[in-house]
Amino acid sequence: MRVLIVKNYEELSVKAAEEVAELIKRKPICVLGLATGGTPVGMYKELARMHQSEGLDFSGVATFNLDEYYGLDGSHPHSYRCFMDANLVDGTNINRENMFIPNGKVAIKDVEAHCAEYEEKIKEAGGIDLQVLGIGGDGHIAFNEPGASLASRTRLVALNEQTIKDNARFFASAEEVPVYAISMGVGTILEARELLVLANGEKKADIVAKALEGPLSSSVVASVIQLHPKVTVILDEEAAGKLSRANFYKFAASMEGQVRLKLF
Ligand code: PGA
Repeated sequence: MRVLIVKNYEELSVKAAEEVAELIKRKPICVLGLATGGTPVGMYKELARMHQSEGLDFSGVATFNLDEYYGLDGSHPHSYRCFMDANLVDGTNINRENMFIPNGKVAIKDVEAHCAEYEEKIKEAGGIDLQVLGIGGDGHIAFNEPGASLASRTRLVALNEQTIKDNARFFASAEEVPVYAISMGVGTILEARELLVLANGEKKADIVAKALEGPLSSSVVASVIQLHPKVTVILDEEAAGKLSRANFYKFAASMEGQVRLKLF
């Protein structure tokens, strides 16, 4: 696992954007898996800046979001579709027709078919080249809450109490946070060719240590990244604060310049 520890959130955002930009430059027709939440906002801002001032071209990029709240229409201000518009699409030349986000308003009777179709669309697009992931306070990736099957696919899920509390900050109150979501599964996520995991702040330090250095377990779903062959984790100093191997990660990262290869 490649773990890059940077000073603060600004450096994390720039480094993460560089990783994404590197893929887009190397493979202009590519597929990005995208995440929402507070963590990737700075990365999206930097990507929009790269588009506007450096001409980073998103015209060949297709995107698949990890999840969407169930019950919210894509035009709802708290929907993840609106989040993506505001944070990335409006500032870049991503073609909206190539942006895929689960439909939070699909009828219950059609949910299974919708989820199967989402998986099919990912396959048709050629699979996800790089999947961006945040880590929830309860260790979730996408909305795969503690206890989620590590082989799960895109499906309707219930949100954990902690997630509802954590996400209440984006809503007027916790009561307004939807209690279901359509989420890519852990199995779906593991099929991406590369994972880019981001976490910042002291409040993530415990869960980051469990995910990176604890046992592989559905109790900490993010620990499943230990099974993937190409994972880059970018952390600020605070989120890295409880890692026991921080010095080794820093050493390995410092060696990358010499071999000009990513040391996974
Ligand atoms: P956050 O959420 O970026 O808002 O901390 C992370 C997540 O839930 O995946």
